[in-house]
Amino acid sequence: MKRLVYKSTVGLLLMSMGVFALALAVLEAPVAAQSEKGGAKLWAENCGRCHLIRSPKERSDREWEIIMQHMRTRAYLTGKESRRILEFLKSAN
Ligand code: HEC
Repeated sequence: MKRLVYKSTVGLLLMSMGVFALALAVLEAPVAAQSEKGGAKLWAENCGRCHLIRSPKERSDREWEIIMQHMRTRAYLTGKESRRILEFLKSAN
């Protein structure tokens, strides 16, 4: 009898650990998805906040490089985000 109680306690413990791991995975999923946003989406979300969104076609690659150095700090972008936006601008101009 004692053994049975022990076994079911262990079983319950393992099960709750599983549920916990699953909950963690579900909670972390949106964060991971957010950091994987592409340049086009980041551009659309960030670059029209303060002024009208500027078309990639407006500037050359070299000009975008300089503009992004300024706008990166204004928009509080991470290095990764600004690189993605720059890649998008260069690919679409
Ligand atoms: C926090 C507000 C803010 C955000 C966000 C922002 N900008 Fe700007 N942007 C400005 C201001 C203010 C100016 C005009 C003054 C200046 O050039 O610094 C400007 C000017 C510009 C210009 C014109 C520069 C020129 O010399 O004609 C371009 C192009 C531009 N932004 C692109 C972008 C892009 C691309 C993004 C997204 C990465 C962005 N901006 C995000 C505030 C912002």
